[in-house]
Amino acid sequence: MKLVHTKLPYDKDELEPSKSQDTIDYHYGKLYKGYVTRFNDNEGDSDFNEAGAFLHDIYFTQFQAPDNSNKPTGPISEFITKHYKDFDKFKEQFETVAMGIQGSGWVYLAKDGKIKTITNHAIKKDIVLLVDWWEHAWALDYQADKKKYLENQWKIINWNIISGKVGLIQEKMFVNSFFMKELHEARLIRSASDIRRMNYADACENLYLSVLTLDFMSRFKETKSWAVQYARQTAAYNNYREFRLSGTDLYNMIHFVDASPNEVTDAFNSKDAGRVREQTHLPIMGLNGWLLSLDGTGSRDTGLVIRLEQALRVYNSDYKEIRRFLSSSIIAESDLMRIKTKILYYFRAKMTMSDMLPTLESVLTKQLS
Ligand SMILES: [Fe+2]
Repeated sequence: MKLVHTKLPYDKDELEPSKSQDTIDYHYGKLYKGYVTRFNDNEGDSDFNEAGAFLHDIYFTQFQAPDNSNKPTGPISEFITKHYKDFDKFKEQFETVAMGIQGSGWVYLAKDGKIKTITNHAIKKDIVLLVDWWEHAWALDYQADKKKYLENQWKIINWNIISGKVGLIQEKMFVNSFFMKELHEARLIRSASDIRRMNYADACENLYLSVLTLDFMSRFKETKSWAVQYARQTAAYNNYREFRLSGTDLYNMIHFVDASPNEVTDAFNSKDAGRVREQTHLPIMGLNGWLLSLDGTGSRDTGLVIRLEQALRVYNSDYKEIRRFLSSSIIAESDLMRIKTKILYYFRAKMTMSDMLPTLESVLTKQLS
């Protein structure tokens, strides 16, 4: 068995000031990684290393950007109210148990509602919420003030993730938060708790706009190689079954739009989303072939963009104008200026997080030939 050093679902500096980037670099980047590496290389005490990796995996995946008014929501809120009356009383008891730990250890909320401790490292299967109480977790940011450390950890707990651990009945909730985490990692939403969540129609529109833009960029010598490379990177995975941190935003957008209707319902938090998804037949193979044809070596399926427009139900008349412009063989300078302005306008309005935007900003303001 090989252990994996789990990727962080947030940026290294995103938990500041509750948890500094220096602490993340050291605690996540060196110590946690060390347990994984030593276990995989069969160095030292393998039980100790395995338990260390197990606990840090749970620990580092339960956070999000700080929010001073952060408090439990959904199933975990009911769970805490049931066992502790309210969140403040829960925090008080958690602190009392944590402060009683002698030496290195962990404190956690267990599935039976009790607050328990772990000495050094141990694998426990009943962890709902976990706080690292080893000195390396707090010393760099809080010196000896462990109470302050704990107080600031409550600001970065992602309660959706914690809700997913309180029992099987909350499985649906966990799927939802997991999908949201993916959207966040793909930079398509600002944070997992972002109220500006996309809906399914937004995702469809973003996908279409990205394709239209690639089509546009592939027509000019200043932007062609960028478009070709981006398209190739997107299609390199062959299918779009799983979310990929290393994938382009277009890759991940296709993944979200083409997910199962149930996932779509959960992710986009709307009872209509799954039904709309069931009627959406994204021409994946055609799209893949089209992306690979942007380099000009094969023939480009000119009907693909129209098929996408219909499949994704994108009815914006400006987009139609851009599409018609792209299919014309002679391009007037005045049309080109107008189309460039429109593409940039829509990208700035709708796709502020897209990995295409910086390139668009830099090239579309220049002369194209
Ligand atoms: Fe630790």
